[in-house]
Amino acid sequence: MENFSYLNPVKIIFGRQTIAKLTNEIPSGAKVLVTYGGGSIKKNGVYEQVKASLTGFDWLEFGGIEPNPRYETCMKAVELIRKEKVTFLLAVGGGSVADGTKLIAAAVNFEGNPWDIIARHAPVASALPIGVVLTLPATGTEMNGNSVITRAATQEKLSFSSPLVYPKFSILDPETTYSLPPRQVSNGVVDAFVHVAEQYINPPASAPLQDYYAESILKVLIEEGPKALSAPNDYSVRANVMWAATMALNGLIGCGVPQDWSTHDIGHELTALHGLDHGQTLAVVMPGVWRTLRAQKFEKLLQMGKRVFGITNGAPEARVEAAIDATENFFRSLGTKTRLSEYGLDASIIEPVAQRFAVRGHAFITADMVREALRQRV
Ligand code: NZQ
Ligand code: ZN
Repeated sequence: MENFSYLNPVKIIFGRQTIAKLTNEIPSGAKVLVTYGGGSIKKNGVYEQVKASLTGFDWLEFGGIEPNPRYETCMKAVELIRKEKVTFLLAVGGGSVADGTKLIAAAVNFEGNPWDIIARHAPVASALPIGVVLTLPATGTEMNGNSVITRAATQEKLSFSSPLVYPKFSILDPETTYSLPPRQVSNGVVDAFVHVAEQYINPPASAPLQDYYAESILKVLIEEGPKALSAPNDYSVRANVMWAATMALNGLIGCGVPQDWSTHDIGHELTALHGLDHGQTLAVVMPGVWRTLRAQKFEKLLQMGKRVFGITNGAPEARVEAAIDATENFFRSLGTKTRLSEYGLDASIIEPVAQRFAVRGHAFITADMVREALRQRV
């Protein structure tokens, strides 16, 4: 196991009817800005619960944070915050709302161009405190310090991390997820699955605890994910999917083990250039990345095949292939497409994506490998 340090300061408040607990978590006297997305919270009762819990607080709202939150929109919230002297941000929605709010929090007192926080990883010296009410299990943003932001003007989708943008608390009420459209349920399960994979399907690191953690999260996603589609109002199912997604990217399973975020980084380009949902890109890209980087992923694919999918027969090569196929079949069983052509894209999209890797460079995957991975996925 490699050396590591691990910090996770996020308080999780999990369960039915927990939005009411907001009242005790926000400092008294705070001026609160509630941030949200395109309006789902106003249709499913979440907004009303938040409103009731904010009785007695001085608060205002900022809606319209898009899926794949836009830098340009976040900067409008920054202006509002400065004008209104807001002191606390409450993000209510999916990963995009939480991520956008993290950028907003970091940008308010940033000296210089806030885009540098993302594009140049300029250090963040201070951030407004954030609370989250999560309505979509997927990204893990509710328990990490990461944020992924899209700049519409340049079609760039990039991320930043800072210990200062961890939420102070995140409220996870699985009942808020009942209203999710099936496509978002599937996206979320795929996303959580791939978060585990990026931290697990890598050269073995003599880290059995992290391996077993990773495998148990995968198994829960495989067992419970499809039930979230077939029995959408089953509380236990929703609760298990939600907790699994949080555990998939709160830093724990990645302690001391190699990580390779190639699938995500290629996926972000597909979203930035062609508008695919985050989860959709991952289901397309990952089988290609695994086959392209087969040598370094081989041992763990074999292990996942055996422990997660029960693949024990055949030569190792065949078992690795079967493990990759089983993963793709799982994504398809959720209704998520896994080929570029299924999204109306053809091989002409490969070069612009590869070029971005050629220009920026990447720790794990070269532009040629990106070409090879995507060629397999048309
Ligand atoms: O905008 P509203 O109206 O709220 O609707 C949203 C949106 O249209 C809807 N939705 C959310 N909760 C709902 C609901 N609809 C009905 N009922 C509910 N309970 O779902 C749509 C998608 O929402 P979004 O927040 O975009 O989805 P998700 O949570 O999957 O977030 C995706 C974003 O997170 C980033 C992705 O790149 C993408 O930008 N990621 C963030 C990470 C992180 N911070 O650690 C890691 C991930 O790898 C990922 O990159
Ligand atoms: Zn993801």
